[in-house]
Amino acid sequence: MVRRKLIVLSAVVALILLGRVALAEIPEGPRAVLPQEAQAAHLGVASCASSVCHGKAEASSTRRVWLTEFRIWQVRDPHATAYDTLLSQESAVIAQKLGLEDAFTAEVCLDCHSDNVAVERRGQRFQLSDGVGCEACHGGSEDWISSHTRDGTPYTENLNKGMYPAAAPEAKAALCLSCHLGNSSKFASHDIMGAGHPQLLFELSSFSANQPMHYAIDADYIERKGDYTATDDWLHGMGEAAIATLDLLRDAPFDADSIFPELALYQCDGCHKKTDQSSRGVSYRQSMFPSGSVRLNDTVIRLFLDIAATLDVDGASFALKRLDELVLAAGMKRQDLASTQRALAETLADVRQALVGRTLSRADLLRVRERFLILATSEKASYFSYSFNLFLTVSHLNAELNDGLLSDDDIAAWFRTVEFESSYSPKEFVTVAAVLLQRVQLEGSHW
Ligand code: HEC
Ligand code: HEC
Ligand code: HEC
Ligand code: HEC
Repeated sequence: MVRRKLIVLSAVVALILLGRVALAEIPEGPRAVLPQEAQAAHLGVASCASSVCHGKAEASSTRRVWLTEFRIWQVRDPHATAYDTLLSQESAVIAQKLGLEDAFTAEVCLDCHSDNVAVERRGQRFQLSDGVGCEACHGGSEDWISSHTRDGTPYTENLNKGMYPAAAPEAKAALCLSCHLGNSSKFASHDIMGAGHPQLLFELSSFSANQPMHYAIDADYIERKGDYTATDDWLHGMGEAAIATLDLLRDAPFDADSIFPELALYQCDGCHKKTDQSSRGVSYRQSMFPSGSVRLNDTVIRLFLDIAATLDVDGASFALKRLDELVLAAGMKRQDLASTQRALAETLADVRQALVGRTLSRADLLRVRERFLILATSEKASYFSYSFNLFLTVSHLNAELNDGLLSDDDIAAWFRTVEFESSYSPKEFVTVAAVLLQRVQLEGSHW
């Protein structure tokens, strides 16, 4: 059953208490090459896991990192069992419907459920069955495995030797999104979803909080790797997701028989009514194509631009107009799709640059929380992915603001309306949102 997880609010609150500390410089530069695409060999989880390395039973008191990372990953992290998922009955059914021999040998599944690097880049201890292992996120360790263990090795030295810069929010977002949204070389298409794969939804700050922590963001971490706030993750993550979604729309192959580009880029509930019949809790009854309701899934692009517009970023309102044109083209005027995509890509890049370079004030966060609650009472909240993302942002901002206007119980009550996609009721979502909005507007200190 597709059940969404409530973000770990306490972990997020703890982070703001650390405050902002002087930074170590993480080179941003050109976009980092993803671990799967970079040239270094991947030596396998076994190369990280020994009891003198990252496989200790107790956190180290003398080294800067815990050294228990392997155990945390192995016991609690869903990435450790991502390959095992391909052995399940559920995956067998998907593979069979797609005409694949097996899910666990199909490149299309392994690309996201394992560290599927080219065969010539697999070390002796590398195993696909490790699933999404250390090097799938931290990069092939061939050139840094021996030097990174020396006490005091600067982070930049590791990065120069090919470690992936996962500590920089944009690079981290691009990494997670490569599997949690897909990109031009790996993608969970409508065919795959039609065979039973869950819809992919992602927001960086809440998904980071939901991945079991195998590191501490303390003063020492910040000194080595730069400042960190969950709000940076949220904002940079939204910006990166908006760009990545737009890139997909440019790259997604057109199905010659279809009047639409790849359907997985559209709002599922624009075409499907949900029924409660399958074991996963969500099954999509065949589309009736009610006219006018086929809608591009522009959720993350729209919400990112809305944050920018709320904070008076130059060009944001203009970009929102271009987004409307794109949505129209994706629905009914396919011949305009490429040109409207390009037009939006230009403005979106500028808006992103202006917004993510800013340090958001408390007043900014208050404005966005209120704005998102207003959006949550709008008619677009009938799309599940849109509502789910609104919920994630409001709950993140509420934890970060910690002003007591909305309690954990309020957030939990609202969460119950998006917990199960199968029983999602826009009416319940909007009703709870309206109560929360009223509280924020009546009691909120005004900015
Ligand atoms: C190589 C692909 C890949 C990358 C990179 C990746 N993930 Fe995942 N992630 C997966 C897969 C596949 C699953 C589902 C595992 C399963 O249940 O089989 C998953 C599951 C998760 C879950 C659990 C989701 C749930 O609903 O319970 C969280 C949280 C998560 N990932 C966070 C992240 C974050 C944060 C990042 C970036 C730092 C990231 N992932 C990077 C492939 C990836
Ligand atoms: C673009 C990356 C991507 C591709 C391609 C992909 N998956 Fe997934 N898959 C994911 C992610 C990410 C999740 C976890 C979603 C979440 O919980 O948010 C997932 C979840 C699943 C689940 C549900 C797991 C659970 O714990 O509920 C199954 C089953 C699955 N995938 C099987 C497959 C099969 C079989 C294929 C190949 C036909 C495949 N996947 C292709 C990324 C991908
Ligand atoms: C799904 C992605 C993902 C996987 C899989 C993963 N990590 Fe991480 N890891 C991260 C992220 C994100 C961070 C935080 C950013 C950073 O410090 O690079 C991190 C941080 C770390 C740190 C830094 C701690 C510090 O204080 O500097 C270590 C050490 C580490 N991981 C080791 C491992 C090991 C060992 C494995 C495999 C057993 C592993 N990681 C698997 C994403 C991942
Ligand atoms: C433009 C309309 C449209 C959109 C948008 C759309 N679908 Fe579909 N979907 C269809 C049609 C039409 C079929 C039937 C295809 C067939 O039978 O060949 C279908 C079939 C399916 C099936 C198989 C249903 C069955 O009973 O066998 C699933 C599951 C599914 N879609 C899931 C999704 C998900 C998840 C999304 C969003 C990511 C989505 N669809 C978006 C039109 C759409």
